[in-house]
Amino acid sequence: MSGRFVTLEGGEGAGKSTLLAGLRAHLEAHGVDLLLTREPGGTALGEAVRALVLDPALRDTCAESELLLMFAARAQLVRAVIRPALAADRWVLCDRFTDASYAYQGGGRGQPAERIRELERWAAEDLQPDLTLLLDLPVADGRARAAGRGDADRIEREQDDFFERVRAAYRVRAAEFPQRFRVLDASQPPERVLADAIAALAPLFDGSMR
Ligand code: TMP
Repeated sequence: MSGRFVTLEGGEGAGKSTLLAGLRAHLEAHGVDLLLTREPGGTALGEAVRALVLDPALRDTCAESELLLMFAARAQLVRAVIRPALAADRWVLCDRFTDASYAYQGGGRGQPAERIRELERWAAEDLQPDLTLLLDLPVADGRARAAGRGDADRIEREQDDFFERVRAAYRVRAAEFPQRFRVLDASQPPERVLADAIAALAPLFDGSMR
């Protein structure tokens, strides 16, 4: 059984954490040697970057700095965590990856896609997921769910039009890479979303598992 790289994407309040917990339980019950990680984060450097990019006090962070910080965290995660795990035939389930930069820094902040593509090539070693699950939900629904989670971070403080652009950019990515993307209707009950996600994972299993 060789390693697999699965990423999970979506806007605020789309149910990523619930789905991650369900997928983890499912995969581990099927004997998958699973590594769960997240972006930005997953390494000491990445978690420090995460604290910076989400800090509401740093509200004048420019889009260029934000983009570079995301890729600084990613460069470390790819080299120190994801590649070694895949090389050891583990599965990696990552809460967000480069598609988030296309959606948030590209769609949300207007950074040109070719600039992100260039960073993806060298900073992220052009690593592409085997499967990307996109939890898609109308912005208002996601924001209603996310409300009441306590203090909003710097990015959560953005306005609805920002999150509309993020959602649109994610959908463009999904349409551009239909082979690896599965768009899940996140307005369904959590158990339906999990069932859809499990069905999407099925092709990743080879003959050694069922
Ligand atoms: P979350 O993991 O709790 O969703 O928080 C991560 C935040 O960082 C979320 O608002 C999305 C944002 N983000 C980007 O803007 N660009 C990126 O490349 C990544 C990985 C995350």
